[in-house]
Amino acid sequence: MSEPAVDQYALCSAAAAHIRSLHPAKPTLGIILGSGLGNFASQVENATTIPYADIPSWPASTVQGHAGKLVLGTIGGVQVAVMQGRVHAYEGYAMANVVFPTRVLALLGCTGLIVTNAAGGINKSFGQGGLVCISDHINLTGTNAALGPNEPRFACGPNAGQRFFDMSTAYSPKLRQLAAAEAAAQGIPLPEGVYLAVLGPSYETPAEIRAFRTLGADLVGMSTVHEVIVARHMGLEVLGLSLVTNMAAGVLDEVINHEEVMEIGRRVEGQFTSLVKALVPQVAAAI
Ligand code: HPA
Repeated sequence: MSEPAVDQYALCSAAAAHIRSLHPAKPTLGIILGSGLGNFASQVENATTIPYADIPSWPASTVQGHAGKLVLGTIGGVQVAVMQGRVHAYEGYAMANVVFPTRVLALLGCTGLIVTNAAGGINKSFGQGGLVCISDHINLTGTNAALGPNEPRFACGPNAGQRFFDMSTAYSPKLRQLAAAEAAAQGIPLPEGVYLAVLGPSYETPAEIRAFRTLGADLVGMSTVHEVIVARHMGLEVLGLSLVTNMAAGVLDEVINHEEVMEIGRRVEGQFTSLVKALVPQVAAAI
């Protein structure tokens, strides 16, 4: 006889209940901070900080530069749940673990998600250290976080929890417009781009990057798409922001390294913080 399937909904609900016991206020917006962007969590006021290791079933990040803490509190008067670090499939985690935190954020009450990442720039008009608003994605990881029996109990919004669900507005046009307007108001360049996800952990070859450019990708990274897939399954509105930490393989005559990814994050922190901080109340009002 095969093992009974693990009830992910029950595990996510138990994690959400534990978080609620430590921070009863309901967050309306989830924020996932990617590599080098973790310091944004210090913007949270009246913060309750919970190490991932203290939350039942929550996966712990093994990547250097991911702090591994959930920070709950307010930004601009909005209750937020900020993830300082995430786990990736390349660390050896099953898809259910990769998307576990996103599902918990939704069960806590978040109806919107700001997802951020470090990415390689494929589009040659992007520069190292630039921010890009994700307009769409191409999932080339070879897997999908919604695999397995459909779990309608994950529905957190209207028409959510379906077996087959729409991804044509995965990155909310409304939220992208808010981001574009706020960036323009602050004088921060914020072009849009298509994010292509690979499994990693190897960076890409120059031939892969040329192929991805032909496919219509502007950015390449190893995260985000699965979180967005389950967020859409649950009915959340998503805003995606990438930090171009390096030009993708072969674009420049340079090698790519993780230290550089972290260093660029630190350099762009000020711009990223002022943009996202200003967007939080606007996004919360729009979802
Ligand atoms: N490729 C994949 N993932 C990345 C990159 C890259 O060049 N830079 C930051 N994350």
